[in-house]
Amino acid sequence: MSFQDEIAALGREAEAALRGAGSLAELLALKARFLGRKGGLAGLLKQLPTLPPPERGPAGRLANEVKERLERLAAEQETAFQGAERADRLLRERTDVTLPGRRPPLGRLHPVTQVAREIQGVFLRLGFDVVEGPDVELDAYNFEALNIPRDHPARDMQDTLYVTDEVLLRTHTSPVQIRTMEKHPPPVKIICPGRVYRADAVDPTHSPMFHQIEGLMVDRGVTMAHLKGVLTLFAHEVFGLETGVRFKPSFFPFVEPGAEVGIRCVICGGQGCRVCKQTGWLEVLGAGMVHPQVFRNVGYDPEEVTGFAFGMGVERIAMLKYGIDDIRLFFENDVRFLEQF
Ligand code: DAH
Repeated sequence: MSFQDEIAALGREAEAALRGAGSLAELLALKARFLGRKGGLAGLLKQLPTLPPPERGPAGRLANEVKERLERLAAEQETAFQGAERADRLLRERTDVTLPGRRPPLGRLHPVTQVAREIQGVFLRLGFDVVEGPDVELDAYNFEALNIPRDHPARDMQDTLYVTDEVLLRTHTSPVQIRTMEKHPPPVKIICPGRVYRADAVDPTHSPMFHQIEGLMVDRGVTMAHLKGVLTLFAHEVFGLETGVRFKPSFFPFVEPGAEVGIRCVICGGQGCRVCKQTGWLEVLGAGMVHPQVFRNVGYDPEEVTGFAFGMGVERIAMLKYGIDDIRLFFENDVRFLEQF
């Protein structure tokens, strides 16, 4: 076999091998075997100088031709393998954009906050302003100025959390009435939301801390009719327009007359049940016409102005509205409970 035939034979062998390569790795190995520095073609070219001079030229040209052809083929194959591999990888790593997303759990307002805001909304629409007062309060504001006498049971250590003899955790939001009237001349039309504290043991209806919303409206000519109108509207807004509302005489030292406002039992509709203790009614708040002594205590003239006041427990309203039978649920913060609101 002539030297040129040898080159051509190597070329055919290499071409067939390159075309038959099954993978990129195999192709690269074949490329090294035939075209590398220690490869088959290089081996043949080393023998070039041993040929008779006239054969060297044509043999060299043929060798270069074969080399270029094989290199082009190898490059083409390489590109094809890389393309296939890339397509393969894209398929493996593809993202299914039609999969439904994972929803991050959404937070929400605590039910007590929701109900407090709903109650406040009713009074804000009626033109009441929101005023806040301190949780740590003076005995003078929490009791004295509200006409609550020294010997009243609420002033007992058993019922009130005292900080010192004169300082306590407020037992109701009523002292905010006093703080407001002391600073502002009439008319006054406010609601006062906030936490209140009592030395109560925890049970299904008692908590040492709970929330109240106080209301106060003072002006010339405010009457019991205003009290009834405003509080009936409140009950209808929060419990529904069909809800029956009643006003019953009651006693609170800072009002005269005093009233307890009740709604038709939301559980039994008035038939009588465990929740309404067979009365058909649920008490939702205390109210009354501001006592003249309270006006005198803040420097208002009871001959000039009159007013009504009311106070309600937010947890109690929320319990009645949603049929919750244990106040502790509001403070345990079990998400299974909270998620329902
Ligand atoms: N402060 C009373 C309580 O905590 C609630 C109350 C009753 C507030 C009558 C008032 C009112 O303003 O007029 O039980």
